[in-house]
Amino acid sequence: MQGQAVKIQASNINAWYGPQQVLDNINLDIYPEEILAIIGPSGCGKSTFLRCLNRLNDLTRSFRLQGQILVDNQDVYRRDINLAALRQKVGMVFQHPNPFPMSIFDNVAFGVRESNGRVSRGYLGDIVEEALRRANLWDEVKDKLTTSGLALSGGQQQRLCIARVLAVKPEVVLLDEPCSSLDPASTARIEELLQDLKQHFTIVIVTHNLGQARRISDRMAFFLNGRLVEHGETASMLIKPREKETEDYLTGNFG
Ligand SMILES: Nc1ncnc2c1ncn2[C@@H]1O[C@H](COP(=O)(O)OP(=O)(O)OP(=O)(O)O)[C@@H](O)[C@H]1O
Ligand SMILES: [Mg+2]
Repeated sequence: MQGQAVKIQASNINAWYGPQQVLDNINLDIYPEEILAIIGPSGCGKSTFLRCLNRLNDLTRSFRLQGQILVDNQDVYRRDINLAALRQKVGMVFQHPNPFPMSIFDNVAFGVRESNGRVSRGYLGDIVEEALRRANLWDEVKDKLTTSGLALSGGQQQRLCIARVLAVKPEVVLLDEPCSSLDPASTARIEELLQDLKQHFTIVIVTHNLGQARRISDRMAFFLNGRLVEHGETASMLIKPREKETEDYLTGNFG
């Protein structure tokens, strides 16, 4: 990856909730068209770090951040940033599928309508179809676009949420344990989907599932107690971690 343009550059990131420091001097570059897996034990700061990348932590009043995050060399925390545009460019998929209580079509169209105001039904239809195809869901829902998104299975709902993010044409997709409530077959479908998507997007996924990290990620970042202990290419990190703490975590000897 060296020499390639950096998509996201996080430098000297320290973060607190009230008095509790939860991120400790994180430095991490993320590249275009890669899948980066963030791994580490519960409470080590994975979700907090992910949410820093599109400023979702802003919603938490006790949260405070120091350091710099650049996306395409633009400072995400600068005063005059357009937050809606940032979150369109850097989209987020959450742990539990969270379709809105509206039709499948409207779920996917939601963000497009929000950002574009009035758009023609035909144009919207094309965008919705493209996003659902990209999310590998089109064939299962094309005949029932007007039924509620809540009527889908968990795995379908998660793909619907991915389609909703893709519809606004992001460049980065953040996923926080997107498969933790899904069965193995649905998980496999999402993993396949992410492999396809990485040709067009930068993907950062938090996962507790080391098998998943091994199967889909190009690089891994191991967090422990708010520190980034080690990061590198997935294959070499799994075979030969540099740090003892990483080795202990990977071999299940942690704690
Ligand atoms: N909204 C919040 N307010 C206060 N403290 C928080 C908040 N969110 C997280 N924390 C604390 O920050 C630390 C890091 O939490 P975070 O959710 O980032 O961990 P994580 O690595 O994602 O854990 P998990 O694997 O369980 O999801 C934890 O000590 C947690 O209790
Ligand atoms: Mg988390």
